[in-house]
Amino acid sequence: MMVEKKIWGLSLVALVAMGLSACGGDANANADAADDAAAQAVAAQTVDDEAATEVAEMDVKEQELPDGVTEAMVEEGKGIYHGAGICMSCHGPDGAGIPNLGANLTDSEWLHSDGSYEAIVATIMKGVTAQESTSGVPMPAKGGTAITDDQVRAVAAYVWTLSK
Ligand code: HEC
Repeated sequence: MMVEKKIWGLSLVALVAMGLSACGGDANANADAADDAAAQAVAAQTVDDEAATEVAEMDVKEQELPDGVTEAMVEEGKGIYHGAGICMSCHGPDGAGIPNLGANLTDSEWLHSDGSYEAIVATIMKGVTAQESTSGVPMPAKGGTAITDDQVRAVAAYVWTLSK
């Protein structure tokens, strides 16, 4: 089902692209025909196209994730960030940080690592000492919670996506 929708979405893109490139040339009759075809395709596929776009976007994101990280881990991590990991209490609900407390996790500046996925995992595992912290406020290992190592990997996956 998902594959079928994606193919429809791609063929629609191809049709529209054909229409556009034909307009750029001087084959006006062909351009009109292509436009009509594209318009019909749009009308017929509006609902499916929306779904196809969503699927396509997910595929693209999945491809960009670090090795060993899945979209499901990112989703799980989002729940942990706002739940069992209590990360949001120091880093804010959207990860933008809280002054003199948790660092901003949405920018591309990493205070305690190189920002790679594995480095983020390591920071969350061991926390940040008061000496290391720019505010002097420490981050306890795993945020001071009892989340499992797998949950740390999931929440790190979510944190990794925040900075992209
Ligand atoms: C008690 C407050 C607190 C909690 C809870 C907390 N953090 Fe932190 N976190 C900090 C502080 C403080 C720093 C260091 C900030 C600094 O150096 O200015 C930090 C740093 C980090 C960094 C490093 C950022 C960088 O720029 O290198 C990451 C990643 C991080 N926290 C993720 C998490 C995650 C994920 C959770 C939830 C499991 C969490 N933190 C829970 C306070 C907290």
